[in-house]
Amino acid sequence: MAVPLLSVQKLSFAYMGRHLGPLGKRTVKPVLNDINFEIQEGEIFGLVGESGTGKSTLGKCILGLLEYKGDIFIDGIRQGSGRKAGQRKLLAAKVQGVFQDPGASLNPVMSMGWLLEEPLRACGVHNKAERERRVDETLELVGLDGSIKKRRADELSSGQKQRVCIGCALTFRPRLIIADEAVSSLDVSAGAQILNLFSELREKLGLALLFISHNLGAVQYLADRGARLAAGKLTDWGL
Ligand SMILES: Nc1ncnc2c1ncn2[C@@H]1O[C@H](COP(=O)(O)OP(=O)(O)O)[C@@H](O)[C@H]1O
Ligand SMILES: [Mg+2]
Repeated sequence: MAVPLLSVQKLSFAYMGRHLGPLGKRTVKPVLNDINFEIQEGEIFGLVGESGTGKSTLGKCILGLLEYKGDIFIDGIRQGSGRKAGQRKLLAAKVQGVFQDPGASLNPVMSMGWLLEEPLRACGVHNKAERERRVDETLELVGLDGSIKKRRADELSSGQKQRVCIGCALTFRPRLIIADEAVSSLDVSAGAQILNLFSELREKLGLALLFISHNLGAVQYLADRGARLAAGKLTDWGL
């Protein structure tokens, strides 16, 4: 069988409290306990669960932002917990995140064109014409026209802002996107359009998605299969 794009094995995570408990020990808050699942190339995997069950924490572990116990494999390669900067760059080319509040993800004083160009500039694409070509290609992928490049975040609707965030995430054409409540702050029609955009991106780019949401309807609409997170464990989602 083909190697899965993402394989999470025996993953556990606990937040360490800042304060000492009554016995002089740091308080520990276990959140994830022995999580196992896989996502195949081009698959949309839904993750549902009540608020506070650790869905975002799981997403952050996969994005390499937290130090966990257990193993995460991407393309069969084990990702070290608490990655070094060089390893983070390699991971970032394959896995990217899109989050709940597009307004908070975009720098309010810069134009959309600048924001979409910045990751290219930072990763050594020094030719201006090449950067512009790649930004235009990305804008077309996320269904925005070139006029948006001159605008700042306060001149965009929330749906357009989320499209720009998805565009930024797609800059290096990752194979997996972790979409953490990516439609939860949008109104119903903008949310539905973003769900359709994710489906189109899967068709066009073969993109896989870990679609995290407390909204069962949205997950049922988009995902091929999925799981429910409850009390730190993944269970069948029972849909
Ligand atoms: N940085 C943190 N430090 C301590 N506890 C945290 C931190 N972030 C989240 N938590 C706690 O971990 C649990 C899981 O949070 P989270 O992953 O955000 O859940 P969800 O995304 O499912 O709503 C919650 O009880 C939350 O309060
Ligand atoms: Mg969350």
